[in-house]
Amino acid sequence: MSESLEAVLRHHGVVPVVEIVDAATAIGLGRALVAAGLPIVEVTYRTDAAEESIRRLRAEVPELIVGAGTVLDPSTARSATAAGAHFLVSPGYNPAVVAEARDAGVGIVPGAVTPSEIERAREAGFTLLKFFPATASGGIPMVSALAGPYRDVSFMPTGGIRPDTLADWLAVPAVAACGGTWIAPRDDIAAGRFDEIADRARAAAGTRLPATTHNSDHSQR
Ligand code: 3PG
Repeated sequence: MSESLEAVLRHHGVVPVVEIVDAATAIGLGRALVAAGLPIVEVTYRTDAAEESIRRLRAEVPELIVGAGTVLDPSTARSATAAGAHFLVSPGYNPAVVAEARDAGVGIVPGAVTPSEIERAREAGFTLLKFFPATASGGIPMVSALAGPYRDVSFMPTGGIRPDTLADWLAVPAVAACGGTWIAPRDDIAAGRFDEIADRARAAAGTRLPATTHNSDHSQR
């Protein structure tokens, strides 16, 4: 990825968050997302197939930007970077995970939902933060309020975002991109329902309002 992670996220606006049970389904999923014009995915470490799925996607779907999600500890960060993940995502801020990502030279989006958490991450140099669980943490009013004092911070809200609320989230200038599982639910991936996944990906990819800009880009490393 030659662009900054924030620029990439802003460009796409939506990141399909996926659970892949069988790595053999990863390629079909990746190709469907690329064909739909949403060539980005966050493969969560909630299944044993995550590492192998990331490896296969990197090897076989070169157009796809592959993130690793649910990175809760340094060994998971090592697994994801070894498999070739372009970026890591964690629901909270874990200094050991952050250190591992930085050592590997891979971008990471740590999570923060309160002023104190944001300040801690900001002090460590992070200005692109996951906002999870987005809806339960106060939703659009909360993220908009946080954007007031933290003018240099952009957020990736995830958790509870659905197709009918996506446009409202993306209209918040501080929102770089939204994550969500609705585009490629676990069962649809497992059953190989890639046409349906591509349809939802296409709809989501067209949601971002044109000319939404906010703050500056950061390489987040
Ligand atoms: C995540 O993995 O970040 C969230 O659990 C996704 O939440 P959703 O299923 O509500 O999209």
